[in-house]
Amino acid sequence: MELKFTDEQNMIRQMVRDFAENEIAPVAKDIDEKDEYPIEIVKKMGKLGLLGIPIPEEWGGVGADFVSYISTIEEISKASAAIGVSLAVHTSVGTLPILNFGTKEQKEKYIPRLASGEIIGAFALTEPSAGSDAASIKTTAIKQGDYYILNGTKVFITNAGIAEVYITFAVTDSSKGVKGISAFIVEKDTPGFSVGKKEKKMGLNGSNTAMLHFDQAKVPVENLLGAEGEGFKIAMSNLDGGRIGIGAQALGIAKAALEASIEYAKERVQFGKPIAKQQAIQFKLADMATKIRAAELLVYNAAMVRQNGGKTTKLASMAKKFASDTAMEVTTEAVQIFGGYGYTRDYPVERLFRDAKVTQIYEGTNQIQRIVIAKQLLNE
Ligand code: CAA
Repeated sequence: MELKFTDEQNMIRQMVRDFAENEIAPVAKDIDEKDEYPIEIVKKMGKLGLLGIPIPEEWGGVGADFVSYISTIEEISKASAAIGVSLAVHTSVGTLPILNFGTKEQKEKYIPRLASGEIIGAFALTEPSAGSDAASIKTTAIKQGDYYILNGTKVFITNAGIAEVYITFAVTDSSKGVKGISAFIVEKDTPGFSVGKKEKKMGLNGSNTAMLHFDQAKVPVENLLGAEGEGFKIAMSNLDGGRIGIGAQALGIAKAALEASIEYAKERVQFGKPIAKQQAIQFKLADMATKIRAAELLVYNAAMVRQNGGKTTKLASMAKKFASDTAMEVTTEAVQIFGGYGYTRDYPVERLFRDAKVTQIYEGTNQIQRIVIAKQLLNE
């Protein structure tokens, strides 16, 4: 299958690539070492429209297609996977749930500000005892008059503390199991809501990951997203798109590692010639490039199907699983090609290796992706 992109898709990718190469790549090492959210860069991305790529123009976005959104995540992640995840979570699961399931009033109130980057979005599903088993969340939401009162704790929330809006999942009726989960738009100033401990992570330093606490948090009834009991469906259907984005993030990391490896292999001389002339290194580069190409086809095939209105539950899981495994394999080989230097922080492959790991874990571990793929296969 040849990947055919339209002129507009190529133009957007080039614009994002220029931005990533000029504004992000030179400071990516710094962002990682300081572990500070790069607010100025994210603001610039907002000004360029990068925080609202797939949002229709009528809602203040760029109005580009899903494929361009996916290539945006790839290009940004190639320069900094930390900024890539912030962008992906903000859009896929922080903004699109409101666009897809919100009322007109909710869209008017939040989407233009999210799409322009004036405010940042986040997604609060995971809890200390509910990770892979997302349906077992314990956070409760009890309706009292004009408010839902939320109690519980969320963990590993990307953009926590940065975001103004958190798409939050809580149990409104514990007798109904998965059909008793509802979604809420929670604003950061909600009484009873607070951001807790920031995680010190292996990689993706510079992206904020923290706990959220809901202690009698008062969420207005008009901030219920979708109907009561629709929360799990809202979470899962948006993850069908979100997981393609994580595949693209992994693809960007893998491509960065391959490019750095090729460059290094041509320069590094051992046994009287560049190591690129050694078959052992050539075979590694060939395997890395082949896996990257396969991951690219899976990611963009899933994106194109989603763009055309097709169901992407299975394709998104395949793309996310394969691309993230590819990122881990490719970055591991990249460190090997760089040898001792690859194990130091003087070269980028060490950061890429650390950043790759989490793509196999979040937005559903790769074991969960297999469950999703198998379930779809057996139901087809
Ligand atoms: N689209 C729409 N609805 C869906 C759906 C989908 N893709 N998948 C499931 N549903 C609905 C179905 O309607 C189903 O109801 P029916 O019985 O009426 O069909 C209902 O949800 C329950 O589905 P399952 O029986 O499949 O649910 P389950 O409890 O077996 O769990 C799971 C399924 C796939 C394991 C799910 O729990 C899961 O995806 N777990 C991983 C959690 C995850 O991905 N977390 C990501 C956190 S966000 C993040 O990581 C962001 C970040 O920071 C990068």
